[in-house]
Amino acid sequence: MKKTIALLLSAVAVVGVAGAGCRGWESEKPPVHLNPNMDTQEKGKAYRASTFFADGRMMRTPPAGTVAQGYLQADDVRSEGIGPDGTPATTQPEGMTFDDAALLARGAERYGIYCAPCHGANHDGKGPAAIGAGPSGAKLQVPPPAFTDARLKTMPIGQIYQAIKNGVNQGNMGSYAGQIPEDDRWAIALHVRKWQMGQDPSVTVGGQAIVLAAANDPPEKKGESLFKLKACAGCHSLDGSRLVGPSMKGLVGRTEKTDKGDVVADDAYLIESIKAPTAKIVADYPPAMPVIPLSDDEIASLIAYIKTIQ
Ligand code: HEC
Ligand code: HEC
Repeated sequence: MKKTIALLLSAVAVVGVAGAGCRGWESEKPPVHLNPNMDTQEKGKAYRASTFFADGRMMRTPPAGTVAQGYLQADDVRSEGIGPDGTPATTQPEGMTFDDAALLARGAERYGIYCAPCHGANHDGKGPAAIGAGPSGAKLQVPPPAFTDARLKTMPIGQIYQAIKNGVNQGNMGSYAGQIPEDDRWAIALHVRKWQMGQDPSVTVGGQAIVLAAANDPPEKKGESLFKLKACAGCHSLDGSRLVGPSMKGLVGRTEKTDKGDVVADDAYLIESIKAPTAKIVADYPPAMPVIPLSDDEIASLIAYIKTIQ
C-alpha cells in the first residue's frame, strides 16, 4: 500500500516537472501540436504586418463611400434635421406623423426626462436647474428659453432636432446625441412642436410663418415683422408679462427707472435703448440686451410698432 502511494506521488512529481519544465524556454523547433486543426497556416491578422500587400500592412482601407451595416444615413432630414436646401428641415422625417399617439407619448416621456430639468415640465423655461431649485441654489448661467418664445415658435422643427443632437451655442446647451437616439430626438421634437401648436394655432410644423412686410407697408407693419424676425419678441412680451427684458406694453411715454435715474420713454430713449442697450439699464433687469445691427429706418419702424403696443 505504502509502496503504491509512493509510486503514485513520484509519478505525479515527474509529470509535473516535465510539464512545467520547458515553460519560458526558447526553442528553434515548432512546439509539439497534437491536433493542429487550422491553427498554423498562412493568414493575415489584423494590426499585424504582412508581406502579402505591397504597403506591408495587413488591414486594408475601405473603399471611399463604404458604410458599415446599420450606419447608412441616407436621409438628411432624419439624421441631421437638414432640409433639401441645406437649412433646418421644416418637416419631420417621412413616416412620422403628428397623429401618432404612441410617438407623441414617447416624445413627452423623453422630454420629461431630458428637457424638463431646464426647459421646464410646463415648457416655460423654468425647470429646476434653470431657477436654481437645488439645495445649493446654483442655476444655469444662460437661461434656457421657454417654448412659448416667439423665436422658438418660428424655429423650423429641424432646428429643435438639431438642438438635441448638436447642442446650442458652443455648449450653452450640451448635445444629447449620446443619450437620445435619432428616433427619440424626433419624438421629442414632434412633442414640443405639437405642444406649441396647441398653445398658438399660428405655429405650423415648419415654424410660425413670419409675414414679411412689403416695401410699401406702413412703418408699424414693417416694425411688427422686424420685431419677430430680429428676435425682440423672444425677450420682450406684448402683454405686460416679464420675459428676459421688460414688456413693450404701454412702454411709450412711461417713466422708466434706470441705473442713470428716471427717464421718460420717448423716441430718443427708445432709439438709445436699441442702439446702445447698456447706456441706461432698466432697474431690476440684467444688462442682457444685445446690440442688434439695424438701419435707422428699421429702428424707426420698430419704434412705430412699439408705439402701437398699448
Ligand atoms: C442643462 C440644461 C438644458 C437641458 C437639459 C436642455 N436644454 Fe435646451 N437649452 C438650454 C439652454 C441654456 C439654451 C439656450 C442656449 C443659448 O441660447 O445660448 C437652450 C436652447 C434650446 C433650444 C433653442 C435652440 C436654438 O437654436 O436657439 C432648443 C430648441 C432646445 N434648447 C431644446 C431642448 C430639448 C428638446 C431638450 C431635451 C432633449 C433640451 N433642450 C434640454 C439648456 C438646456
Ligand atoms: C436677449 C434678450 C433681448 C433681445 C433679443 C432684445 N432685448 Fe431689448 N432689452 C432686453 C433687456 C434685458 C432689457 C432691459 C435692460 C436694459 O435696459 O438694457 C431691454 C431693454 C429694451 C428697451 C428699453 C425698455 C424699457 O422698458 O425701458 C427697448 C426699447 C428694447 N429693449 C427694445 C428691443 C428691440 C426693438 C429688440 C429687437 C431689435 C430687442 N429689444 C431685443 C433684452 C433683449
